[in-house]
Amino acid sequence: MQIVMTTGTRYSFVVSLVVTLAAACGPATAQDFPPDVTRGKAVYERHCLACHGRGGWGDGPDAAALTVPPANFHRFKSFLKSEEELLRTIEHGIVFSAMHSWQGQLTETERLDVLAYIRLLVQQGK
Ligand code: HEC
Repeated sequence: MQIVMTTGTRYSFVVSLVVTLAAACGPATAQDFPPDVTRGKAVYERHCLACHGRGGWGDGPDAAALTVPPANFHRFKSFLKSEEELLRTIEHGIVFSAMHSWQGQLTETERLDVLAYIRLLVQQGK
């Protein structure tokens, strides 16, 4: 049997290979291991719980004092956001809110770990 490859199919094969490789390498360059939710939990309890609450419902002890309430991660509005979008928020913060940038305080690995923990909280629904 002979496999006939026209220039067109060869081109699209190369394109899809490049896209696949880029997708595979993207997050891996930032961190080579899957995020660690145990470390994420420690980061969360230390830095985020006061506002976002133990279960991520936005009901931490400091929440009542804030004009803009902390995000409730269980709402669809948060839940449906991509990892990139949430990471960007953790990295840069949200203007005119108590959610400041964590860039200097948390390493990239810690930001990924804490996001994984937030996702886990939402998955557990508690
Ligand atoms: C001082 C209170 C406070 C602390 C501490 C805090 N946040 Fe927030 N966070 C907020 C507020 C307020 C908002 C929502 C702002 C808005 O709705 O515009 C928010 C929003 C967010 C969002 C965006 C959610 C969405 O749906 O877009 C993420 C993600 C987030 N916080 C993660 C974290 C993480 C991770 C930490 C700990 C490293 C943390 N926050 C610590 C107050 C806080």
